[in-house]
Amino acid sequence: MSRKKIVAGNWKMNLNLFEGKQLVADVLQKSLALAENTEVVIAPPFTQLELAATQLKDTPGYLLAAQNCHQEASGAYTGEVSASMLKSVGVTYVILGHSERRQYFGENEALLAKKVNAVLANDLKVIFCVGEVLEVRDANGQNELVNQQISGGLFHLDAAQFKNIVIAYEPVWAIGTGRTATSGQAQEMHAYIRSLLAEKYGAEVADNTSILYGGSCKPSNAAELFACPDVDGGLIGGASLVAADFAGIIEASR
Ligand code: PGA
Repeated sequence: MSRKKIVAGNWKMNLNLFEGKQLVADVLQKSLALAENTEVVIAPPFTQLELAATQLKDTPGYLLAAQNCHQEASGAYTGEVSASMLKSVGVTYVILGHSERRQYFGENEALLAKKVNAVLANDLKVIFCVGEVLEVRDANGQNELVNQQISGGLFHLDAAQFKNIVIAYEPVWAIGTGRTATSGQAQEMHAYIRSLLAEKYGAEVADNTSILYGGSCKPSNAAELFACPDVDGGLIGGASLVAADFAGIIEASR
């Protein structure tokens, strides 16, 4: 099994250039020792990417992600940013399918499948987010929904392409609410996602794909979540905006 542990910080639409520069500097200043085969990924807004790339470039294991990209290679799409532009400023990962993109920007599986292709075509990696809203969880429909999200967004890929895919399970009811999934709920869903990968691509792809948990992850609950056998790290929102909290979560990954 060679899958990575990943702690990724999704800043969302927070912090200006100067605040963001300070946050990256504060995290790096902690000189955190990373466990073997572990990555820390920082996903600031587009305007911060180039600067953050220069800040991270000499620190092994620290990589940069964008929070979104457009599905087309270039052209008349005012206000959009392409995968090749992200590549050119030093990005390694692109987060796709975050529930906020699905909810506020109407992103669906058909669009996300195109975005996945655009990212992979530029030799970048995808952090593909899935997860159910509360009503779906209450009706016990979470597996069916996550299955649809994964098969619609990712299952057009071949097994070789999956080495550039990371999945993040983020129950929408846990995002920014302070209400974390229990480690039992997280493990159950992560094992289910891995079983879907095994069924579609075989055991090797399933074993080698990192599956992150997201949703009110913080230093006080990260160690328990990360100890679950199928939880390979976290996608962190609010707590990634505070250097001490993000550092605490990175430490919990060791
Ligand atoms: P949260 O967000 O940690 O603030 O709940 C997680 C996410 O949306 O990625």
